[in-house]
Amino acid sequence: MLTKQVKTYPSRIEEVKNSGRYRMLLSEVDIQRRTKELAEKISEDYRGRCPVFIGVLNGSFIFIADLVRQLTIDCEVDFFKLSSYGDAMVSSGEVKLKKDIDCHLADKDVIVVEDIVDSGLSVKFLNEKIMDMKPSSLRFVSLLVKWDNAQPGRKIDYVGFSIPSEFVVGFGLDFEQKLRNLKNIYIMQEQD
Ligand code: PRP
Repeated sequence: MLTKQVKTYPSRIEEVKNSGRYRMLLSEVDIQRRTKELAEKISEDYRGRCPVFIGVLNGSFIFIADLVRQLTIDCEVDFFKLSSYGDAMVSSGEVKLKKDIDCHLADKDVIVVEDIVDSGLSVKFLNEKIMDMKPSSLRFVSLLVKWDNAQPGRKIDYVGFSIPSEFVVGFGLDFEQKLRNLKNIYIMQEQD
């Protein structure tokens, strides 16, 4: 139980509500509608098969949960955990593998689920790593792709939204590890 002795801190959730620093880019309704469309297309493309969906933690945890629940086909689910940003707003340029998958991907249909493709370094890293495991097919789905920055090491097969090159938070995307639990996606403007 939280008591009066617990140290409090400025709430980022309150800041989103009360400061002009955040501008909504995509509402919960927009995201759910597009997620359903993507799930329908994937279900059609993989009819009669059972792809392995691999979420890329942490950012994709909400998107993959919503996406797989809208599928009308069987699937398996596993997770990689990568990190290239840490608490920074720009990529370190080095992708680190923090958690590996447990399943075998040889001869499986694999679909990697990203929340966002920015520099494309994470996608490039995963593409090379998974191809070494000899899957029978490999595709990528990303809720967001930045249209200016994205130089993916490969094509993104299913794109939710192409977005401007701004720092975005919410729906799994963080600022200093917080704000992942926002239902909408917001552009966070730099402070003067
Ligand atoms: C973010 C995001 C993607 C990756 C995309 O992860 O979730 O996985 O960056 O950026 P890129 O295209 O420039 O590689 P991050 O390293 O911030 O970790 P997180 O998912 O835990 O927030």
